[in-house]
Amino acid sequence: MDFIVDNLSVNENGNLTFAGVDTVSLTEKYKTPLYLMDEDKIRNKCRTYKKALEENFKSSQVLYASKASSFKRIYEIMAEEDMLVDVVSGGELYVALKAGFKAENIYFHGNNKTIDEIEYAVKEGIGCFIVDNLYELENVDAAAKKAGIKQRILLRITPGIDPHTYEAVATGKVDCKFGSAIETGQAMEIVETALSCKNIDLAGYHCHIGSQVFDAQPFVDCAKVMIKFSSDVRDKTGYSPRVLNLGGGFGIRYVESDEELDIRSCIAELAVAVKAECASCGLEEPEILMEPGRSIVGDCGITLYTVGSIKEITGYKKYVAIDGGMSDNPRYALYSSPYTCIVANRANCKADYLCTIAGKCCESGDLIQEDTCIQTPQSGDILAVLSTGAYNYSMASNYNKIPRPPIVMISGGRDYVAVKRETYEDLIANEL
Ligand code: LLP
Repeated sequence: MDFIVDNLSVNENGNLTFAGVDTVSLTEKYKTPLYLMDEDKIRNKCRTYKKALEENFKSSQVLYASKASSFKRIYEIMAEEDMLVDVVSGGELYVALKAGFKAENIYFHGNNKTIDEIEYAVKEGIGCFIVDNLYELENVDAAAKKAGIKQRILLRITPGIDPHTYEAVATGKVDCKFGSAIETGQAMEIVETALSCKNIDLAGYHCHIGSQVFDAQPFVDCAKVMIKFSSDVRDKTGYSPRVLNLGGGFGIRYVESDEELDIRSCIAELAVAVKAECASCGLEEPEILMEPGRSIVGDCGITLYTVGSIKEITGYKKYVAIDGGMSDNPRYALYSSPYTCIVANRANCKADYLCTIAGKCCESGDLIQEDTCIQTPQSGDILAVLSTGAYNYSMASNYNKIPRPPIVMISGGRDYVAVKRETYEDLIANEL
């Protein structure tokens, strides 16, 4: 049987296997809902990215955008794979540091870092801030001065590129809350200001066009805009960037109709454009950074649920309810994101039962997928939702006081708990 991701199969019992392990027996051991992650596949993704960048650029680094899934074990894996990471809050920074991740290898993102977060990061010796705006630049400069250091930064520049993805994740357009736009002259202004700050070491620029992008072209267009901007800055101020961070955003397969993206050829295409543009502008090729999140962990995870009520509304739809929902995966409710669902204990049966998968939250929009075909289910079956490794656990909540599921990692056929299931006690841990 063919699946949209390569680490799934069906065993002799007709059960779905994930990373070579029977998913149904994992639910017997760990209960549901349950997040599973394939550690070996995550490591392979890191290696693919690193190799592709090394092969194509003079100098490069890969950062894992840890907002995709942030927990201690993932930072340990990233450190072991020689990856850098980016964080977007003091909380993510704290988790990374608690995991023993070196502060100097961490990049701090975000459009509104608080002064407390900035001071915390400076105190910990963070490698780099990606500075979003003039107010933040002032705050980072002040924090660095207070600490008696020169802080390395990149400036987040808005290139004015539309990546043709869903609106909520298109971040490179001029009218967007992130960064300083080239088009309005604010990008040039922030570079000149940064160059005049005594406690700032401007290493270069950052841009990020959006997420779940399947085409190399918007990345190519963006790189060209950024290099042209670099050359305009050089002509005006004499400054050339040492580093150009081209962001993340490569898409993954959620459903059959999503194409398989070849990261290596996308990066090769990008490199051709970067080299040509640098040559034509007479710029030294900067060190190239990329910061993928979804394409590192997204299709390395699945979620398993138990089917509860099955309801056919006569003349309307069939609703198959599961023991989780928007509290562990809010992406359908937020973005109408497509997902593939499989009845894990009937994985060898035909998926011809058209239904809507509903969560258990008190909210009619709490759906995982509408009008999707799965194997004919029965209450008590196990439902697998594929490609949930990114922006599921990290976006989970305790809505309706539902405890978050655990994360079980699979490596070399062995399963282990990386994040424990929350308990009812945990739900009131902060309540006095
Ligand atoms: N760098 C920056 C500055 C970003 O803002 C993001 C994602 C990334 C890198 C990583 O992008 P990725 O490779 O994961 O596409 N919650 C949404 C996705 C939000 C993405 C936010 N920024 C979702 O569930 O689809």
